[in-house]
Amino acid sequence: MTIVAGNWKMHLGPEAAHAFADEFSTAPGANDATDATVLLFPPALSLAALRAHSIADRVGLGVQHLHSEPQGAFTGELSAEMAVEAGATWALVGHSERRHIFGETDAQVAERVRACLRAGLQPMVCVGETLEQRRAGRLEEVLARQLEAALAEIGGAEGTDGSKPYWALAYEPVWAIGTGETATPDDAGAAHTFLSEQVLMRGLPVPPILYGGSVKPDNAAELMAVPSVNGVLVGGASLAADSFASIVGAAPTR
Ligand code: PGA
Repeated sequence: MTIVAGNWKMHLGPEAAHAFADEFSTAPGANDATDATVLLFPPALSLAALRAHSIADRVGLGVQHLHSEPQGAFTGELSAEMAVEAGATWALVGHSERRHIFGETDAQVAERVRACLRAGLQPMVCVGETLEQRRAGRLEEVLARQLEAALAEIGGAEGTDGSKPYWALAYEPVWAIGTGETATPDDAGAAHTFLSEQVLMRGLPVPPILYGGSVKPDNAAELMAVPSVNGVLVGGASLAADSFASIVGAAPTR
């Protein structure tokens, strides 16, 4: 199974989201890889427009951010419970823009993963190194630290049937996000293998691990062909229905 996810960041309000959905529904590729899971993380204000559109039969919805408390005096925030009520089934947690622009810490990432599990939202936990960290040979140390925060929560949680929660990881090297620089398939493969080893070392099932960072229609197929790459998290190229649909169409059958 392959996951193709679009992170719209602060783009596409409700009207533009509706127009995107109209166009995506018939765009070449959108209905090709029928065993691929397709997800969109729109701004929370655009969730309702997508949920009300027939695109919601094909595309799962998620939020880009949430607060760890279920409710309270936290002006401007939204909770995991509210996201579920609004139709989300997924939440991005620990995106590098949240970490670097808004100063989100590993402890907050852990709290947000806990909030997702409490509300029944599936967390997609984003990890990744900066160029400086990669050049200093600290890739594995950084990934292990970021992952640890999430694993402590996932490892302790269980469904009523004793199964572990369904979640996903996204490896997003910070230097590749929005820069046009993409990790090579070998770089992505090595990081994904390291992440799955870390999860296995803790005796947990390995979740799908997506690659993110300047994924475009012309490089999506070669990235998704790497056996340890279970999908892609797409920023810029998910804003236009035709390019996102062609990335969906490039998903391999597994
Ligand atoms: P990008 O963003 O595809 O525009 O590099 C990826 C992301 O931030 O998830």
